[in-house]
Amino acid sequence: MKKIKDHYFYKAKSENFRARSIYKLQEIQKKFQLIKTGDHILDLGSAPGSWCQFLAQTVGQQGRVVGIDLKPVEKIPGGSVETIQADIFTFDFSLLPKFNGITCDAAPNTTGIKDIDSSRSLSLLEKVCRIASVKLNPLAGFAVCKYLQGIPLDEVKALFLEYFFMVSYYKPKSSRSESSEIFVIGRKLKKNNAQDHQPANSSAP
Ligand SMILES: C[S@@+](CC[C@H](N)C(=O)[O-])C[C@H]1O[C@@H](n2cnc3c(N)ncnc32)[C@H](O)[C@@H]1O
Repeated sequence: MKKIKDHYFYKAKSENFRARSIYKLQEIQKKFQLIKTGDHILDLGSAPGSWCQFLAQTVGQQGRVVGIDLKPVEKIPGGSVETIQADIFTFDFSLLPKFNGITCDAAPNTTGIKDIDSSRSLSLLEKVCRIASVKLNPLAGFAVCKYLQGIPLDEVKALFLEYFFMVSYYKPKSSRSESSEIFVIGRKLKKNNAQDHQPANSSAP
């Protein structure tokens, strides 16, 4: 992924965060106040680890963060973060306990063709919703997911509304204006969610 050496890049360096992406989650947290002290958070697409660093600070010593990425994540000091090197499409999520929330900054392999990239991004969101349906507590659980725009946001909203009562979008200031990314926030997981939308032969969740 191309490194953008802007104000946020240097700020992240000076504040010892591993990536400028930290400021996107920080802005989301400032606006929506999703993550609480003591929460257990599942962070998908977590390398190099700046969201995990921020999550660890926010949940504190009583909280717990599990990060999953295709790439290894260098150990995060403090003891509340565990990272797993895996593909979220094939990982067996039944190995993990329940969480208060899911954050997902995973980026699909992009082609530069807007519709293909957006459709890959939507597949990631669908996967995150299915994970949410089994790993979050109904009415309380939340999910924050990056989405590369292309396929209309109405479709994304319809997907999220199958799983969550409340759906919002947010484009943080630290997300470059020329980037198609936007963050989708689902709150209050529905009890009767759409696990049964999976094809019968797909692996759970
Ligand atoms: C923009 S980076 C995440 C940055 C991270 N939030 C941080 O603050 O350090 C996107 C990550 O998504 C990961 N990713 C993409 N597809 C994935 C998948 N199927 N399973 C696990 N990780 C994936 C990539 O390996 C990449 O490290």
